[in-house]
Amino acid sequence: MKHTFPIMAAVLACAVSCTDSKVNTLDIIPCPLEMTPASGVYDLSRGEVTFTIDSLMAPEAYTLKITPRKAVVKAGSEAGVLYARQTLKQITVEDGGALQCCEISDEPRFAWRGLLLDCARHFYTVEQVKKVLDIMAYYKLNRFHWHLTDDHGWRIEIKKHPRLVEVGAFGDVGSHSVPDPNLVGEILYEGYYTQEDIREVVSYASSLGISVIPEIDMPGHMTSALAAYPQLGCTGGPYKVVNVVGPRGKGLGKENLCIGNDEIFDFISDILDEVFPLFPGEYFHIGGDECVPDRWNACPKCRKRLRDEGLESGEYSDAQLLQNYFTRRVQKMLQERGRKIIGWDEILDGELEDGATIMSWRGTSGGKRAAERGLDAIMTPIRHCYLDFRQSDDLEHEPIALNGTVSVDSVYDYEPLEGLTEEAARHIIGVQGNLWCDVVSTQEYLEYMLLPRLAALSEVQWCAPQNKNRERFRSAMDAHRRYYEEHGYVYAKHLWGIIGLPGHEYRIQ
Ligand code: ACM
Ligand code: ZN
Repeated sequence: MKHTFPIMAAVLACAVSCTDSKVNTLDIIPCPLEMTPASGVYDLSRGEVTFTIDSLMAPEAYTLKITPRKAVVKAGSEAGVLYARQTLKQITVEDGGALQCCEISDEPRFAWRGLLLDCARHFYTVEQVKKVLDIMAYYKLNRFHWHLTDDHGWRIEIKKHPRLVEVGAFGDVGSHSVPDPNLVGEILYEGYYTQEDIREVVSYASSLGISVIPEIDMPGHMTSALAAYPQLGCTGGPYKVVNVVGPRGKGLGKENLCIGNDEIFDFISDILDEVFPLFPGEYFHIGGDECVPDRWNACPKCRKRLRDEGLESGEYSDAQLLQNYFTRRVQKMLQERGRKIIGWDEILDGELEDGATIMSWRGTSGGKRAAERGLDAIMTPIRHCYLDFRQSDDLEHEPIALNGTVSVDSVYDYEPLEGLTEEAARHIIGVQGNLWCDVVSTQEYLEYMLLPRLAALSEVQWCAPQNKNRERFRSAMDAHRRYYEEHGYVYAKHLWGIIGLPGHEYRIQ
C-alpha cells in the first residue's frame, strides 16, 4: 500500500521550533535504533512526505529518508506510521517549515511500553486523560493502564450495578486532608466516567496507537464498591468510601470482597460483561495487590471456603490461598470471554493457568519469578518506575509526594533484563511507569511528575541498550524542554538545576 500526503498539517502544527537548525545532531527521544544525520533540510512548503506500508517490515518498525529533494517514510503497519510521524515532529526545524535531513531506521526494544494513571484516588476528566495520552504518544508509548477503581473511588459506570458510581464515586469531600498549599488548579476527589466517556478515551487512544487496559482492582482495594454493595464484604458493612489521606501515606482500605460468598462471582461476571465491549484489547488487569488478610482470617464464610475447597499448603498463608482461589476463578471467567489476565505480582502466590501476565512492582523479583515459571511479565519496579515518588531528596523544595525518590536518572538507568537468563528474558514483554495519584491531585502536578521522567522511561522501553546514553539524552532534553514550553506543559527542571512547581521554583545551590 502506498499513499502520499500533502504537506502534513499535523507535523506543521506540532513542530518544535528549533530555529537553530542543528545539522549534526538529532534530538530524538526515544533515540532511534539507527540514525544518520545529514546536512541540509527538506523544505515542506514545496514538497510532500511519502508514506509507504511495507508488510515485510516488523509491524512497529519504520524508516525515514529525508534529503533536500525528498522525504520518504516506510513503515511495517499503521503503528509504524504513527511512530514515524512522532519522529518527524522531532526533526522539524525552521519554525515548522522544514525537516532536518537524515536517515533513520527504527523499531522498539519492548512490545509493552506502558503508563498507569490512577484516576481513582483523584479524578481526572476525559480532557485531562487525553492530554496524558498525547504526551504518551509523543514518546511512542503504546499501553495506557487505566486504574479505574480503588478504595477511594469507583470511576466506571456499570449499568447493572448503578450504585457503584452513585455511591462509590463520591466520598466525604469535606474530610480530605489539605493538599500541598503550593498546588494550583482544581482538585477532583469525585466523579466517574460514563460508558460514553470511556468509549471516547479508548477511541482517542486508538487514534494515537495506544491500547487501553482497564484495571478493576480486586479482591482488595474494594472499599468503594463495598460502600455501594456491603453484602459483598466479609462483615456486611456498613462501609465508607476511603478518603485520600495524603500527603505522606496511602489510605489503604482493609476491606476485601468476601471469598466465601458466591455472589461476588456473579457480580464480577456482570462487570466483565459491561467492561469488555468498551475495551477491545486482549488484556484485563485484575489488580490483586495489597489484600489485607484480617477480614478473611476472621470470616466464617471465608474459613468455610478454605475447608470446602481443601485449600491448604505449608507454603502459603490462608489469605494467599483464598486470593489464589479467587484469581483462578476470575482467570477462568476471562478465558471464557477470550481475554487474558494481568495482575500485580501478588497473584504469583499460588498456581495460575497458562497465559497470565505479571506486573512486577515490589522490585524485580516478581517479574523474574514469573519469567522463570514461563509466564509473561511487565517490569514496573517501584525504585525506577513509580512516578508518584518525589524527584529529589530535597524535602523542603519538592512538592509533597510519597516517601522515596525516583530521580530522572534512576528512571533512565533502569535495565529491565539485568540478572535474567536469556530464556527468562524472552518473557519480559515490557516496562511501565506508574503514576499513582494519592497525592498527585492537579493537572500541573501531574505534568510535573510526568515530564521529563516519561521521556527517560521511553528510552528504557524503546531503545536498544547500546543506544542509551545519559549525556545524549540530557542534551536532547534541551530541545524537548522547548517543546514542553511551546505546548504549555508543566515540567520538572531538575536537569537544569531547579526544583519545584511553577511559582515555587528553587535554584539548586
Ligand atoms: C501497587 O503499587 N500497589 C501496585
Ligand atoms: Zn469473607
